Amino acid sequence: MSDERRADDQRVTVRQAVEEDDAALLAIERVAWDASSGFPSYSETLQDTFFTRSGPEAHLVAEYDGKVVGYLRLQDKYPFPEGAGVLAINGIAVAPEARRLGVGNALMTATTAEARSRGARKITLHVHGVNTPARQLYERHGYVVEGIHPAEFLIEGTPVDALDMAKTL
Ligand SMILES: CC(C)(COP(=O)(O)OP(=O)(O)OC[C@H]1O[C@@H](n2cnc3c(N)ncnc32)[C@H](O)[C@@H]1OP(=O)(O)O)[C@@H](O)C(=O)NCCC(=O)NCCS
Repeated sequence: MSDERRADDQRVTVRQAVEEDDAALLAIERVAWDASSGFPSYSETLQDTFFTRSGPEAHLVAEYDGKVVGYLRLQDKYPFPEGAGVLAINGIAVAPEARRLGVGNALMTATTAEARSRGARKITLHVHGVNTPARQLYERHGYVVEGIHPAEFLIEGTPVDALDMAKTL
């Protein structure tokens, strides 16, 4: 790791989200996704608040030099006891201007620590097959492909595979 990268890492912090993060996270949400990472129809469903569907308790927030630049949504995957201990990453996004600075890495590292502290045994997620940045990030953190759903989505006329990935703790 270069000295420059090490310095970057020290500028990134991760913490639990609070209600006051709403506006900053909404601003990121409006620009973070595109056809390779998300669903274009989703942007039309965005509300005036970020925490509409799930509250601050479900989110880790990353700051770079004290500015909110990203989030990760971590939730129980199942509502019944047999599925206890399986968590789902239901979204991770970093503001475009703050990418490749180690923010995604910091969020994923903090997520592993958070999951272990909750006694979780597995973390799962879904990713588009074409989303190379996210797939590289997940693989770097020990996630493996558990399933492929070929041409699951038709996004702007292009068939897109859906991948299930997971990390066993
Ligand atoms: C995926 C995303 C969260 C990565 O965040 P980031 O802060 O740029 O990631 P980092 O700088 O910490 O990079 C960590 C690793 O991810 C991978 N990575 C990140 N961006 C990449 C890119 N453009 N191309 C290839 N690999 C990439 C690399 O392995 C990288 O490690 P390296 O820098 O040592 O090569 C960010 O690109 C993003 O918000 N994308 C849009 C939303 C999205 O796709 N979310 C995931 C949906 S499943």
